[in-house]
Amino acid sequence: MPRGINLARIIEKQLPAELVNFMWLAGEIAHTRGERIYLVGGVVRDLLLGQANLDLDLVVEGNAIELARQLRELNQGKITTHPQFNTAKLQWDRWSVDLTTARAETYEKPGALPSVTLSSIDDDLSRRDFTINVMAIRLNPGDYGKLFDPYGGRNDLKAKLIRVLHEKSFIDDATRIWRGLRYEQRLDFHLERKTLNLLKRDITMLDTISDDRIRYEIECVLEEKYPEKVFRRAEELGVLAKLHPALKGNGWLAEKFDQVRRLSSPQPPETELYLALLAYPLTSEEVESFISRLNLPKSLAQTLRDTIAVKNKMRSLAIPGLSPSNIYHLLDGYSSQALVANSLATESPVASQNIRLFLNKLKDIKILLTGDDLIKMGIASGPQIREVLELLREARLNGRVTTREGEEELVKGWLAQR
Ligand code: CTP
Repeated sequence: MPRGINLARIIEKQLPAELVNFMWLAGEIAHTRGERIYLVGGVVRDLLLGQANLDLDLVVEGNAIELARQLRELNQGKITTHPQFNTAKLQWDRWSVDLTTARAETYEKPGALPSVTLSSIDDDLSRRDFTINVMAIRLNPGDYGKLFDPYGGRNDLKAKLIRVLHEKSFIDDATRIWRGLRYEQRLDFHLERKTLNLLKRDITMLDTISDDRIRYEIECVLEEKYPEKVFRRAEELGVLAKLHPALKGNGWLAEKFDQVRRLSSPQPPETELYLALLAYPLTSEEVESFISRLNLPKSLAQTLRDTIAVKNKMRSLAIPGLSPSNIYHLLDGYSSQALVANSLATESPVASQNIRLFLNKLKDIKILLTGDDLIKMGIASGPQIREVLELLREARLNGRVTTREGEEELVKGWLAQR
C-alpha cells in the first residue's frame, strides 16, 4: 500500500460524532466480512477543503447490500436497497449514507447510462469525472483514514484545477460539462487547460444527453449558491447556447438573481424563480423548445409560459394611472412566481409597482356575497349572476365598496336600474 496522508483527525473534526462512529463500525464489519470499504467522492474533496458535506458515499469491494443489512441490525435506521445496481441507502433521522458495490462501467454509446459490472475500487474510481472527486479514504481497521488518491486529486485541489481523468470523459458522459462548470464556479477553481479544450471540443456531445438528465443538471446549477456564475461561464464557452441559443448568462441575469436572493433571504430562493428569470429573454415560441429540452413538469412549464405571457403585456402594465381593476384583469390567473419574476425583470417601475400591488393586495380581495345570496336578493340564476359578481369585484378592487352592506346596496341599485 502506498504511504500517504491520514485523514482520521480531519474526519473526527469535521463530521458529526454519530457519522464518525458509523464509519468506524462500517470499517469493522466490512473487515470481518473480508471486504474493503472506502469513503469516496465529494465528501472526501470537501473534507480536504475544510467544507461541510454530510452526504456520505461509501464504496465496498464486496457486497454493499449485505453489508448495509448487517449495519442496519446494529445501528437501526431505515434501509432501501437497489439490487439491480448493487446499492443500498441507510437513513436515520438526520443523516443518510449511500453504500455502493465497487463497479466498473462501460459506455456502450455516448450519453447513455453505463452498463455496470462488479469490480475493485481502482476501477470504480477510474470511471468517475474529475480528479478532485476521485479520491477515497480507507475505512478498514489498520488503514482507517488513509487517503487513496490515484489521480493526483489532492494536488489539483491545491492548484485549484478541475481535470478529467481521460480524453473521452465528456464523450462518455457530457453531463460532466455542466458538472465541471459547476465545480469550477462553486470552488473558484479553473478548468485545467487540456480539460478546457476537451470540453470545448465535446460540447456537441450534450445532444446525446436525455432531457431528464439535462434537467437534473440545470436543477443542480440552480441549487448552487451563485448559479449566475455557472451560467455566465456556460455562455462564454457556448454551453448555454446548447440549452437554448437565446438564453443569456450576462450581468443582467446576475443582478436579477441577486435581487431574488435578497427577496427570499434568509431562505434560499425558490429555484422556480431563478428559472423564470433565466427564461425571461425568450419569446413564446422559444420558451416552448426550452421547456421541452428540459422536459419540465407541468407546473414549472406553466410558470415559464406565464412569465413570457406577462412580459408580453408589459406595455399595458406600464401605463401610469391604471385602476386596480385594470391591473387585476391584466394579471389574474398567472402563477405568482411568474409575476414575481416579471416584477423584478421589467424595466418599467410603474409596471413593477402594479405587479406588486396585485401580488400584495389585489389578488386576495374577495367578494362577500355569493351567487346564492344574489338569487335570494332577486337576481335570476344565469348570466346575470356572473355580471353582478363581476360588478361587485370591480367595486371592491377600486375601493368603492368595503363591506357586505356596501355590496348589498350595489346589488339593490343594479336591480333598481333593470
Ligand atoms: N460522478 C461522476 N460522473 C457523474 C456524476 C457523478 O463521476 N456524471 C461521481 C463523482 O466522483 C462524484 C460522485 O460520483 O463525486 C458523486 O456524485 P454527486 O453526488 O453528483 O457529486 P458530489 O461530488 O457529491 O457533488 P456535490 O458536491 O455537487 O454534491
